[in-house]
Amino acid sequence: MQTKSVKIGNIVAKNNVFLAPMAGITDLPYRRIVKAMGAGLLFSEMISAEGLVRDGKNTLLIADIEDKERPVVLQIFGGKPSSLGKAAYMLSNKADIIDINCGCSVRKVMRSDSGAALLKDSVRFREIISTVVKNSLVPVTVKLRSGWDNENKNAPELAKIAEDCGVSAVTLHPRTRCQGFGGKAEWRMIGEVKKAVKIPVIGSGDILTALDAARMLEETGCDAVMIGRACLGNPWIFRETVSYLETGKTPIPPSEAERLEIVRQHGDHMAAYKGERTGIREFRKHLLWYFKGMKGIKHLRPLANKMETLQDFHAILLQIDRGMYARI
Ligand SMILES: Cc1cc2nc3c(=O)[nH]c(=O)nc-3n(C[C@H](O)[C@H](O)[C@H](O)COP(=O)(O)O)c2cc1C
Repeated sequence: MQTKSVKIGNIVAKNNVFLAPMAGITDLPYRRIVKAMGAGLLFSEMISAEGLVRDGKNTLLIADIEDKERPVVLQIFGGKPSSLGKAAYMLSNKADIIDINCGCSVRKVMRSDSGAALLKDSVRFREIISTVVKNSLVPVTVKLRSGWDNENKNAPELAKIAEDCGVSAVTLHPRTRCQGFGGKAEWRMIGEVKKAVKIPVIGSGDILTALDAARMLEETGCDAVMIGRACLGNPWIFRETVSYLETGKTPIPPSEAERLEIVRQHGDHMAAYKGERTGIREFRKHLLWYFKGMKGIKHLRPLANKMETLQDFHAILLQIDRGMYARI
């Protein structure tokens, strides 16, 4: 049995299968679905510290949490210690844990010396981490990549600095910033970080199945795993992984009726939460992920990409339910 609860500061995650932070994806409606599938800890989309400090009201909307999803982690990014400190303070009356993004390789984020840019400068890294820890009222965690490039894989040293600053857990996505999402995640580096620190280590990268999760736990000795891209359109991977780690068996895959019901709940919640037009537009990509690989998907794509209203969405669901696409 490889499932276990994980203690991060004073917060207990009931199991060690976590939802990865994903910008544009792990918003409140998606987290609600993933929570129902049994994930032990949910990470929000990254939230701009500068945005929070300058324009609290609008940015705070991304930081919305509902009580039944707790424990939940709000992730912040930024390059200025003072803004990150203020942001951590602002969010720590909502979040159970504050996570600092030190791994985002998107150019726009890096331009503000945030995200993976912090991997290159251990002095600023230390200053940022200690400022956030000082200002946060809840436990702080840090999410890292292996390092800047192949010649500079300093994640174990950075994890140790973070631990010395009072961080309660560290996540590693073991690709370098220069690798982006290419090549393979180098799981060996997760083991290196685990050896460097005493706080819990969370492994992220290339978990596609429950078996991969079990393998990462075993091979690296990490305390928890994080699932990202593999849960797009497949939140059931959390239920399957928790069950596999507990019993060695994966439950029967969801029936078509269950799949449709979850898709309906997710889309309806997006519309209710974000407003019909924005919610349904943002849901287009999720709809296509849910039905990826379905026979006739190429006929569904243009319709999904035009969805504007709940009526459009429900009409598509009805057609899928009647097996229309599967017949084309
Ligand atoms: C669309 C997308 C958005 C992401 N956004 C974030 C983010 O906001 N913060 C972060 O720390 N990592 C982010 N990541 C990285 C993931 O959290 C994860 O570490 C990475 O995708 C590797 O895990 P996977 O192979 O399970 O996807 C993002 C990844 C993707 C694909």
